[in-house]
Amino acid sequence: ISFSFGASLGGSTTTFTELKESFGAAALAAQRWLAETPSCTEGHGWLALPDSPVEEIEETAAWLAGYDSVIQVGIGGSALGNLMLNQALLDGFYNESTPGPKFYLADNPDPDKTLSIWERVKEGRVALVGVSKSGATAETMTQFLWYRSELLKKGQSDADILVITDPEKGIFRAFANGSDCRVMELPASVGGRYSVLCPAGLVTAAALGIDAPALLKGAAAMRDFLTAEKDFDKNPALKLGAIHLLHEREGRPMSVLMPYSSKMAYFAEWYAQLWAESLGKNGLGTTPVRALGAIDQHSQVQLYTEGPDDKFFTLICAEGHGVELSVPAIEHEALSPLKYLDGQGIGAMLNLEAKSTAAAIVKSGHPLVWLELEKLDAETVGALVFFYEYLTALTGRMMGINPFDQPGVEQGKKYTYGLMGRAGYEKDAEEVGEWFRK
Ligand code: PA5
Repeated sequence: ISFSFGASLGGSTTTFTELKESFGAAALAAQRWLAETPSCTEGHGWLALPDSPVEEIEETAAWLAGYDSVIQVGIGGSALGNLMLNQALLDGFYNESTPGPKFYLADNPDPDKTLSIWERVKEGRVALVGVSKSGATAETMTQFLWYRSELLKKGQSDADILVITDPEKGIFRAFANGSDCRVMELPASVGGRYSVLCPAGLVTAAALGIDAPALLKGAAAMRDFLTAEKDFDKNPALKLGAIHLLHEREGRPMSVLMPYSSKMAYFAEWYAQLWAESLGKNGLGTTPVRALGAIDQHSQVQLYTEGPDDKFFTLICAEGHGVELSVPAIEHEALSPLKYLDGQGIGAMLNLEAKSTAAAIVKSGHPLVWLELEKLDAETVGALVFFYEYLTALTGRMMGINPFDQPGVEQGKKYTYGLMGRAGYEKDAEEVGEWFRK
């Protein structure tokens, strides 16, 4: 993974020396905080995940791989990390192309999607995986209850269920303790959106063939580097945290992440959740915007270049795309104007387009960081995941907010509990009612 910061200040009059003067001390203090806080402290557990033993993950993955299909239910941090890994590291048409179990992730509680997944799997043996840290989230529970009931109706049992949840608390934990389903821990000190490198993200990914040890190895290498490198100019997390805060302060409240790889569309989605839910607090925070190259070159890039100077850009380019396809020689007369494409690689063109977009944004005077990946394999993805988790937590600390809580999201959950009639949430239901009477 390499970074180019040359254009990262855009039209700002601040120099790199001033950037370091303004934010360097806070960045180093945040780095120390992350290094010195024990990983058993609430919110800090993700820093230790790269050292997790993989035996239980691999054993459970092997068990899941024996089913015809696996349905995973979960939402937010209990879904996005897994979706991101699967898209980045599996064949784009995995369910059609691979002999292993078919895999479906039921995140949004949309009955049309819930049913249509079931219709595809119901004839075979199905494993149900429920992921919820709190073990209570209504979107996850409704779908879990529905799929479990269908599973039991067709003669399967709780032994075909795995729940991944808090070691002690919550309804899932109570269910696991009182039934013969399998259970794995989502460590108490790991928050949902930081949980991709624990069983929540890894178990079904490993069942589909993703190399979990390689993911953790990449994450560990990145963690060791980010923790040890104390030079502001050499540590990209310290620098990028500072750059984000500078742009927020100067009136650029949006942070666009634009990978040039179809396999990384969900990476931008995962990042958007991590960034927004961790840093949007106390009237602060920049709005993450997910974009995808080259598709958004034909839509958003007009705004990005000639619209207001209110955004900071990160473009991600993967040097290798796994395969390369060359344009064949052109022999049809009418197509001869396309001869300039003869023999050119489609992946190579995608990378040139990333450079074109970066140049167009920089030419317009907007700030941009260029992030390059040598290849998109498990080790690199593990490193990139850890880098963004670290950057997010570090930036939050520099902002003076807690990057590990999510009171706004919790309020929404309470309103849902109230409206659905859960005892103890009557006042929340009343509050929503009042809003709608206004
Ligand atoms: O990051 C978070 O805390 C949230 O996005 C949660 O992951 C999400 O709300 C789901 O929560 P739970 O895993 O408790 O069902």
